[in-house]
Amino acid sequence: MGVDVIRTVGEMHHAADVMRQSGQKIGLVPTMGFLHKGHLSLVEHALEVTDRVVVSIFVNPIQFGPSEDLDAYPRDLDRDLKLISDLGAHIAYVPSVEEMYPEGFVTSVAVTDLTANLCGRARPGHFEGVTTVVAKLFATVKPHVAVFGQKDAQQAIVIRRMARDLNMDVGVMIAPTVREADGLAMSSRNVYLSAGERQEATALYRALMLGQKMIERGERCAQKVVAVMFDVIAPQPHAEIDYIEVVDAEQLTPATELSDSILLAVAVRFGKARLIDNTLVQVG
Ligand code: PAJ
Repeated sequence: MGVDVIRTVGEMHHAADVMRQSGQKIGLVPTMGFLHKGHLSLVEHALEVTDRVVVSIFVNPIQFGPSEDLDAYPRDLDRDLKLISDLGAHIAYVPSVEEMYPEGFVTSVAVTDLTANLCGRARPGHFEGVTTVVAKLFATVKPHVAVFGQKDAQQAIVIRRMARDLNMDVGVMIAPTVREADGLAMSSRNVYLSAGERQEATALYRALMLGQKMIERGERCAQKVVAVMFDVIAPQPHAEIDYIEVVDAEQLTPATELSDSILLAVAVRFGKARLIDNTLVQVG
């Protein structure tokens, strides 16, 4: 058995056409590799709802800013292939940068508004890089369903909107965040953390849970919720807070008086690692 490795657009197109022609439902899980249990849970979701699961592994240079960690980004393709193979995924799509962005590549896909806030503000150009590569993956793998993680809530919402606005015939599924035993959201970037930073990083989840509890107990002032979350994270010696926000879970615009569906979202730097996390809260 084992997973088939496809490295070119041409071969991926062909494999997708063959699967579609034989009536198989295609699932896609886009990743940048260095897979952990969070990624693997997305593969499991895809295996449940489709017949053939393609996992793409591509560290996408155009979604990294000039001072970000593109070169340092962790990679271990052999380990990744074994993990998804053991799980029963069918195809690993592993294009090179030259294959994805050949000379003369000038097109990009941008979703406005939804990218104005949160990570979009902190990382200019990031989401344009994400939507461009995901649009290319959708066009190449031709999935019926693509699975993304709630861990990157803004990314999932932006991709869902892109698919809707551009009439892409893909169902965008969002799967829950997988966490370590102490609550830290799994992330390929957690390997950057020193032992001390790793311990401090648990403050993100504690802050989110405290914020959620406040709202569930009746707090309706976003500022007060942010202040309490700040007091959990800020005292951590290595924490540099990028944002702590309370936003409308669909529009991602700042929520002042809380009602309906709310997203609590945080981004905090610990040394080299920029960690994000979030939780959804139903108000009322
Ligand atoms: P990457 O960070 O590798 O994440 C790939 C997918 O795994 C994303 O949908 C992300 O939300 C999900 N994921 C990461 N950590 C998770 C966790 N702890 N629990 C559940 N899901 C988790 O996100 C990207 O790559 C890229 O931006 C990509 C979409 C592949 C485009 O380049």
